[in-house]
Amino acid sequence: MKTFEMKTVIHFGDNALERLEHIPYKRVLVITDPFVVQSRMVDLITAPLARGGIEYQVFCDVVPDAPVDKIAVGVKKFLEYQPEAIVAVGGGSAIDSSKAIREFAMNINNYGKVGLIAIPTTSGTGSEVTSFAVVNDTEAKVKYPLVSDSLTADEAILDAELVKSVPPAITADTGMDVFTHALESYVSTDHNEFSSALSEKAIEICGVFLLRAYLDGNDMHARQKMHVASCLAGLAFNAAGLGITHSMAHQLGAMFHIPHGRANAMLLPHIVEFNSDINKHSKSQKEYLPSVKRYSNISHILGLSNYNKVMSVRSLVNWIQFMQKEMNIPLTIQEIGTITPDAYFAAIDKMADAALADACTATNPRVPSKEDIIKIYTKLWSF
Ligand SMILES: NC(=O)c1ccc[n+]([C@@H]2O[C@H](COP(=O)([O-])OP(=O)(O)OC[C@H]3O[C@@H](n4cnc5c(N)ncnc54)[C@H](O)[C@@H]3O)[C@@H](O)[C@H]2O)c1
Ligand SMILES: [Fe+2]
Repeated sequence: MKTFEMKTVIHFGDNALERLEHIPYKRVLVITDPFVVQSRMVDLITAPLARGGIEYQVFCDVVPDAPVDKIAVGVKKFLEYQPEAIVAVGGGSAIDSSKAIREFAMNINNYGKVGLIAIPTTSGTGSEVTSFAVVNDTEAKVKYPLVSDSLTADEAILDAELVKSVPPAITADTGMDVFTHALESYVSTDHNEFSSALSEKAIEICGVFLLRAYLDGNDMHARQKMHVASCLAGLAFNAAGLGITHSMAHQLGAMFHIPHGRANAMLLPHIVEFNSDINKHSKSQKEYLPSVKRYSNISHILGLSNYNKVMSVRSLVNWIQFMQKEMNIPLTIQEIGTITPDAYFAAIDKMADAALADACTATNPRVPSKEDIIKIYTKLWSF
């Protein structure tokens, strides 16, 4: 038996933030990153709370990639203030930190139910609707996803006004995260008709609107579409899981602080080649791995070549690399320019072990060996 469930109520469209006036809580902790406070974007959150007569405090000590020590500081703040709910405002880092803070605080004190309202300010992770929280063990230099239904937000508010200020480089990285969620969930071993429908729509939107949002951040139509695509792709991978692009990207984030979506974008062409067993020298074959058909469908949705299976997969790989080049995302680790070959190659063995153990590996369409993962990390240096 399979079950498809969407636990989070989604408010979206014009004036979606007005929902904050009517939430069923009297005392909330707003958890966000310093940018949201310094840019005064937080006023867009606190004004409707004040209008609704809801008491609040703002905790803005969140940093990228949800390190566990910062989560502990948040738990302390939570226990001091004793809110009925958390309003998480920011990118995936702020939303994931909020999820972890709520989870740990509730477990420490048998606190009872605490609400979570997630308000993304990037169009990327889909964390507002997922049961994942990616946390970073900075001492062990390992980043891993916590996965539990209890992490899922009760409500999500999608207001594209909040993403207007995202600079082009972050629009590119987070947009490629959306695309990777849609693609990995579409080929995952756990995909089903419901998740596929969500992935397909997110892929279609990325094909038309990601470059537009990158080239003109004030293109509100493109911004709105990408904000919805991010949420659709989040719902898709929440149901179907992800794959080794994410498992391997988590390690690049933990070891070298490569932004999450950028690491995904860089790895993705290599993973499509690995999962399909089609590389640039491949000839057409009698039989293909199951993911080849799924990748071909994606090529079709993106309007790329569908002459035959090999060409369809190749066009998808080319399209991803085209997007990387158009949006100034490096193709190789060497191109980043700040990571030495010694540091990178010394880390590969540990990263491969951690990638194999990552929760996202279980649903990858082709089972990788440690050698496969090492080969892909090696190729990523400079191919
Ligand atoms: N929980 C999930 O389901 C899930 C899924 C994928 C990724 N993740 C995790 O989420 C994290 C990445 O999240 P992200 O890609 O949203 O980035 P992020 O939250 O780390 O933010 C990146 C940068 O963008 C800035 N920023 C955020 N909103 C902005 C805005 N409106 N205008 C200008 N700047 C803004 C932030 O201050 C930060 O400096 C990673 O830790 C990743 O592993 C979680
Ligand atoms: Fe992601």
